[in-house]
Amino acid sequence: MCGIVGVLGTHEVSPIIVEALKRLEYRGYDSAGIATINDGHLDRRRAVGKLINLSDLLVHDPLPGKSGIGHTRWATHGAPSVTNAHPHRAGSVAMVHNGIIENFRELRDDLIAKGVVFETETDSEIVPKLTQHLMDGGMGPIEAATKTLSYLEGAFALCFLFDGEDDLIFAARKGSPLAIGHGEGEMFVGSDAIALAPMTDKITYLEEGDSAVVTRAGVQIFDSSGRLANRPVKAIKMDNARVEKAGHKHFMAKEIAEQPVVMGDAITHYLKGAPPQIALPDAGLDLTAFDRVTMVACGTAHLACLTAKYWLERLSGLPVEVDVASEFRYREPPIPARTLAIFVSQSGETADTLAALRFCQGKADKIVAVVNVPESSIARESDLVLPIHAGIEIGVASTKAFTCQLSVLVMLALKAALERGHMPVEAVQTHLTTLRSLPGMMNAALTLSDDIQAIATKLAEARDVLFLGRGPMYPLALEGALKLKEISYIHAEGYASGELKHGPIALVDKQVPVIVMAPRDALFDKTVSNMQEVMARGGKVVLITDSDGARLAGDGTWKTLIMPMVPDLFAPILYAVPAQLLAYHTAVAKGTDVDQPRNLAKSVTVE
Ligand code: M6R
Repeated sequence: MCGIVGVLGTHEVSPIIVEALKRLEYRGYDSAGIATINDGHLDRRRAVGKLINLSDLLVHDPLPGKSGIGHTRWATHGAPSVTNAHPHRAGSVAMVHNGIIENFRELRDDLIAKGVVFETETDSEIVPKLTQHLMDGGMGPIEAATKTLSYLEGAFALCFLFDGEDDLIFAARKGSPLAIGHGEGEMFVGSDAIALAPMTDKITYLEEGDSAVVTRAGVQIFDSSGRLANRPVKAIKMDNARVEKAGHKHFMAKEIAEQPVVMGDAITHYLKGAPPQIALPDAGLDLTAFDRVTMVACGTAHLACLTAKYWLERLSGLPVEVDVASEFRYREPPIPARTLAIFVSQSGETADTLAALRFCQGKADKIVAVVNVPESSIARESDLVLPIHAGIEIGVASTKAFTCQLSVLVMLALKAALERGHMPVEAVQTHLTTLRSLPGMMNAALTLSDDIQAIATKLAEARDVLFLGRGPMYPLALEGALKLKEISYIHAEGYASGELKHGPIALVDKQVPVIVMAPRDALFDKTVSNMQEVMARGGKVVLITDSDGARLAGDGTWKTLIMPMVPDLFAPILYAVPAQLLAYHTAVAKGTDVDQPRNLAKSVTVE
């Protein structure tokens, strides 16, 4: 998954493209590159690693030109290297690609047999090679690029630039999103509207199978059968401000710290009046119209769904099925009548989640997107969008998006409980009033940061770490482990506390820290028993609990962190804070790249 951008400008485009790529770096940071038309001639610069390396290269070796395309790469086929970096070039064709060309081997073999030479290990290189081959056969650039599309299988968003053509970008999408930006005498192409936000707020989204001929005078869009298509221009409200760390060492630290504020925003958007009522956007949702819920997502968003399953089932009686999107999409599960399908995604661009959503279209009674980016593909293809209002999340490790997802989902569960007559109105209002005070509790939880940092210096020496939780704290144990793995590179696993003795307890010895997340709730005594079983085998337990829990748990833990008292319902939201801080401080102690950990990308737009 990669970020792509194209600009037909009135000024030098290299700095504009670099700025747009900065906003797309969440899609990958293995390499970056730019091609421009300078004095009618195509030229390019490419660098391995983060965008800063390309910026540095451009200082020493500038790339003039008022037309250009750019790319930030997350490697799929071929290691990160200059050769494999985009834009790929074949003769007079330069091209950037997001997606995977699945039939590239057979197309490449065919061209090799015809004498074409390939330089890279990528799937993408076939695209410009094929286009140039067709141009060698007499086709013009637009005809050749259009013909190329008909050969390609897989997913792609593509942007082409042609030698000698200063006023032409050819773009196309199938499976991967692409947006056209309209300026004054300038035109733009980008993987998303965020990339184009500083340049324009007028956006046309290409639809599946569309191709676009872009010139400074405007854009002509063709549908998959080659007919001229009329796609609307939308005015997009985007935050143009450069995202800063606001004095924090890392974006992740900033995003953890701003949770009380953004969660407060999320709650305010949905809770109106006193006593509080839940107001969903648009026409809302009749939660009595469903007999079951299916929830689909990836990574941390999937763990938010698992937490919501506990809430929805317990509070509203609705049976809930939760799937990881990459399994759901090929499992082809039956979707019975009266199913509500909920897709949760920070970016709204995750390829597997989007494909799962498309599978449910026409089958589920209603499709709801819980997203952070309201203009994303997942939002645009849903019947109802529930934005989480977390603000732009830059750190690859999802933090504030997780707690905002949970906040929106717990409100949805309470709304379902009320509408379906599973909970008296007064009880729901009591919960909602408490929810309004959760940001304050979160501030208190953040004050544990120094204590957690002290623990993290030791945790950084561990090879394996276990996280335990019961009930709704079990998905949080999974989330604690995922956070630690992805940014500190320490092997970590989350387990349901009661499951430990069915195998994983064999891992426990003096070297293995075990993080137990156990507020003093109805299941506390059982979790403490599991903790005792760990300590009896020499395990080093970090108990995260409240003052009641600490008193009742007895001695023997390695460390105990005392959290503010919180009603059981909201504990998974509050306890996310120490889980995030443990991962963060451990990663800092290990000196890893906290905001852009190795091998990862913020948004996974390939399957
Ligand atoms: O944008 P999405 O919420 O759809 O992304 C899903 C996952 O890729 C994401 O949550 C990932 O697991 C995070 N890096 C976890 O911190």
